[in-house]
Amino acid sequence: MAMAMRGDPKQRRASASAPHGGAAHHVADKLRRHSTFLLLLLLLWFALSLYLFLSATPPPPRPAFLPSTSTPRPALRIYVYDLPARFNRHWVAADARCATHLFAAEVALHEALLAYAGRAARPDDATLFFVPVYVSCNFSTDNGFPSLSHARALLADAVDLVRAQMPYWNRSAGADHVFVASHDFGACFHPMEDIAIADGIPEFLKRSILLQTFGVQGTHVCQEADHVVIPPHVPPEVALELPEPEKAQRDIFAFFRGKMEVHPKNISGRFYSKKVRTELLQKYGRNRKFYLKRKRYGNYRLEMARSLFCLCPLGWAPWSPRLVESVLLGCIPVIIADDIRLPFPSVLQWLDISLQVAEKDVASLEMVLDHVVATNLTVIQKNLWDPVKRKALVFNRPMEEGDATWQVLRELEILLDRSERRHVESWKR
Ligand SMILES: *[C@@H]1O[C@H](CO)[C@@H](O)[C@H](O)[C@H]1NC(C)=O
Ligand SMILES: *[C@@H]1O[C@H](CO)[C@@H](O)[C@H](O)[C@H]1NC(C)=O
Ligand SMILES: *[C@@H]1O[C@H](CO)[C@@H](O)[C@H](O)[C@H]1NC(C)=O
Ligand SMILES: *[C@@H]1O[C@H](CO)[C@@H](O)[C@H](O)[C@H]1NC(C)=O
Repeated sequence: MAMAMRGDPKQRRASASAPHGGAAHHVADKLRRHSTFLLLLLLLWFALSLYLFLSATPPPPRPAFLPSTSTPRPALRIYVYDLPARFNRHWVAADARCATHLFAAEVALHEALLAYAGRAARPDDATLFFVPVYVSCNFSTDNGFPSLSHARALLADAVDLVRAQMPYWNRSAGADHVFVASHDFGACFHPMEDIAIADGIPEFLKRSILLQTFGVQGTHVCQEADHVVIPPHVPPEVALELPEPEKAQRDIFAFFRGKMEVHPKNISGRFYSKKVRTELLQKYGRNRKFYLKRKRYGNYRLEMARSLFCLCPLGWAPWSPRLVESVLLGCIPVIIADDIRLPFPSVLQWLDISLQVAEKDVASLEMVLDHVVATNLTVIQKNLWDPVKRKALVFNRPMEEGDATWQVLRELEILLDRSERRHVESWKR
């Protein structure tokens, strides 16, 4: 169609400038115009039939977990237990941080699911059961980080209630029940790895499905249950308040703000960040290309939006909210956390949007970054600035197609497909 239309004015110009020659010339000209006209008609007809043919052909079948493009509606039916407020809503009412801080995925997922029209309204229709317990909202500690000491008891309490009042837990021994464990070391519910490992996953949760920020390659006591790695919670506004990643002025080469110990304490044989952050400070603290700050600063996200590279070294656990913040702000995450397992790999393709530097290679970090600037910086940025990537890391309330809650449902569906037989068999036992 476009081709035929573009041909048109040229044709008109040609006939307008036709020389005022003899009659023969005139006839030939007319014939030529006539055949051009026929050719145009033919082209038009061809384009039209091609269009009709294509629009009549049904689209290829999509995998079951993909919703239609207009309404997100994974086939998975999840029932959300209506627990007493002391398990969830009470905590948000008591402290607003509960719904916004880095562990708030437990709140965001719950609220998003409640507002989701595709959830199972009746438990009998459900494939999975969501147990909404907020365990990361006890801010009675001095350091501002939530206490987890009550987490196991609170969860056990919730399970007792669910088990006593409805038949679904007993039917599967909890295998089709879903919990969020958004704290460090996930379902072990302790921020220190050695204690987390010693405690292990509570016995009553071992058969359930856990949504957790903690994830490593290979085996780990704290991921020895069916689970989905989810992103840490970052308020969705972060992506909206600041300039679009493409438009930001990036005058900082490499950025990090956070806890960097000059002399790491030996806590029962473990050092914070496995001393990686200390090494960063030693190696690059005086290097003007590196903007490294140890003090807290509320507007640090403005700094991230001004940076080319954002360092994401491990803390106690491999993951940190910086992973999400850098993606939202278009700053290339430089992940320094060996064996980390990152959320939603099928949609995020972390190797295309980030750099991963081994903990032992911190000394050559500057060289790696310089090399990237000289070679594939714009390729990585182009991948990173794809809005699909930002969307997948944000928990919207209500959920939106392609966002973090949507990705969780998708991953649950895949997990269910993989393990359904096992669960069904275990129900029969
Ligand atoms: C909150 O944590 C503190 C300190 O660990 C604990 O003493 C308290 O019982 C917890 N609160 C609740 C309601 O579980
Ligand atoms: C589930 O099993 C427990 C322990 O065996 C029992 O106390 C409870 O009543 C059962 N729940 C239901 C709804 O039957
Ligand atoms: C750290 O402390 C533990 C005892 O808790 C000790 O065995 C270990 O040698 C210490 N490590 C270093 C590097 O000081
Ligand atoms: C960019 O280059 C770095 C270092 O040479 C390499 O590790 C990385 O995989 C490359 N990334 C992309 C997306 O091309």
